[in-house]
Amino acid sequence: MGGAKSFPSLVILLVLVLDCSATPISKIRAHPQPCKRMVFYFHDILYNGHNSKNATAAIVGSPAWGNRTILTGKNHFGNMVVFDDPITLDNNLHSTPVGRAQGFYFYDKKDIFTAWLGFSFVFNSTEHKGSINFAGADPLMNKTRDVSVIGGTGDFFMTRGIATLRTDAFEGEVYFRLCVDIKLYECW
Ligand SMILES: *[C@@H]1O[C@H](CO)[C@@H](O)[C@H](O)[C@H]1NC(C)=O
Ligand SMILES: *[C@@H]1O[C@H](CO)[C@@H](O)[C@H](O)[C@H]1NC(C)=O
Ligand SMILES: *[C@@H]1O[C@H](CO)[C@@H](O)[C@H](O)[C@H]1NC(C)=O
Ligand SMILES: *[C@@H]1O[C@H](CO)[C@@H](O)[C@H](O)[C@H]1NC(C)=O
Repeated sequence: MGGAKSFPSLVILLVLVLDCSATPISKIRAHPQPCKRMVFYFHDILYNGHNSKNATAAIVGSPAWGNRTILTGKNHFGNMVVFDDPITLDNNLHSTPVGRAQGFYFYDKKDIFTAWLGFSFVFNSTEHKGSINFAGADPLMNKTRDVSVIGGTGDFFMTRGIATLRTDAFEGEVYFRLCVDIKLYECW
């Protein structure tokens, strides 16, 4: 008796399952449009033994064959840098910052110039309050690199997306500027 009773619900379940599989998830997600898009620049001035006043980044880790003043040879393999960099709306280092980019990068390949990045954009302005968190591989020789937007707080509560990084300037081993094109696909 019990088996007969549950038979109709089994049919309904089967119909539901078949119905869902008729619309593949991959199709729904094929070309998502960002729900928010923002472009920022951030400026990294690496301490080099002479610029302690202006430096916004410091080498905190080095392999045994190097030191923490100058990035090592071998594509800087093993160096880790911590930074607290100003974020601006244009590519001018002297523009009024709208937030800080805070985090670290380390160089993780001996035979290619490449790094891994983990950082947050921290905003506390009238425009934006909260943070956006980023993580991912940064193959520096690529003109553009995509890293993940893995979350956020405040105005960016629970966000996710992709940030396309482009090296906008690179001066010796002291200064670089990244253009960050943030495309958010989850907005609350
Ligand atoms: C620090 O920055 C100021 C203004 O941006 C610049 O004039 C000066 O040359 C910089 N000093 C060093 C040591 O990089
Ligand atoms: C750090 O290493 C570089 C070479 O990689 C060297 O030129 C420099 O003198 C070293 N600095 C210190 C403080 O040991
Ligand atoms: C943000 O800015 C306000 C006003 O300037 C200040 O009171 C507050 O402490 C700041 N918060 C953070 C987390 O820096
Ligand atoms: C770097 O560029 C190569 C070749 O253009 C591409 O295949 C690769 O996906 C890029 N990597 C990233 C992380 O953007």
